[in-house]
Amino acid sequence: MEAYADLIRAPRGRVTLRVAADHDAVRKHARDCDVFYVWKPPVDAYARAPRLAWLQAMGAGVDWALVPELPPGVTVTRAPGIFGAWMAEYVAAWCLHVTQRIAEYSRAQRERRWIEQTLPDRLRGKTVCVVGLGDIGRAVARALRGLGARIVGVSRSGRAVREAERVYPHRALTRAVAAADFVVLVLPLTPHTMRLVDARVLAAMKPTAWLVNIARGAVVDEAALLAALGERRIAGAVLDVFAREPLAPEHPFWTMDNVVVTPHISGPSTAEEITPVFNANLARWLAGRPLRHVVDRRRGY
Ligand code: GLV
Repeated sequence: MEAYADLIRAPRGRVTLRVAADHDAVRKHARDCDVFYVWKPPVDAYARAPRLAWLQAMGAGVDWALVPELPPGVTVTRAPGIFGAWMAEYVAAWCLHVTQRIAEYSRAQRERRWIEQTLPDRLRGKTVCVVGLGDIGRAVARALRGLGARIVGVSRSGRAVREAERVYPHRALTRAVAAADFVVLVLPLTPHTMRLVDARVLAAMKPTAWLVNIARGAVVDEAALLAALGERRIAGAVLDVFAREPLAPEHPFWTMDNVVVTPHISGPSTAEEITPVFNANLARWLAGRPLRHVVDRRRGY
């Protein structure tokens, strides 16, 4: 947290910083705070923060912030425009991991086997369905399009975007995924998107298709996903997020040969990248100007 605090441009005399490295420290300082610049503070801190007027999230998703405990008058802002570049590389890397059969060649190398009959596949010409077309989803789409993939998108509105050949609304999700070789989830978790990818959607995917989840675990029905993967009704899944994190050591995802597990790192939050977003908003706040990147609490993002 010190790294974040060090980069805050707080005019002396107008802003006092309180740095909280753990939950107890958040609770302790909450009483004095007008502003929270935070990632997942304890929800009981809100009741202890009578002056709180603005919460700036140190990340893209704000599902954790929009809890009933947060008084309705608190403005919530998020940090868009940062994670797309990271997450586009993550998705490109893992899609190429699949098409280049990296796991297979690595295994063969360890076993000193020359598997010249096994050839890589190509991403060029594959269909990628990007579910969620915010700034991150569009960055992912651009990167994969740059590698020659055909992009279809899914968004709440279904409105056309430059990055996708075709965009479907949420209610047409099963149709959107049907032709995809990769389905990439990059949408916010809201009451509406909770378990949006359910058994029906998974059943609509091709048996050769991969699911890549860089959104939130709970946008997928994990039990249905586990069953689909176990019965090889889809080819595999690259999962960076889970309904419960950290993923429990006994969870079957860890050991399945068609599952890649990464520990919620596809869009790392660094003080250097996030704090300028906060600083810009803080300057607006101090000048009495409207904040940017305000979350629509009713919509959930
Ligand atoms: C991380 O998961 C984020 O939403 O920024």
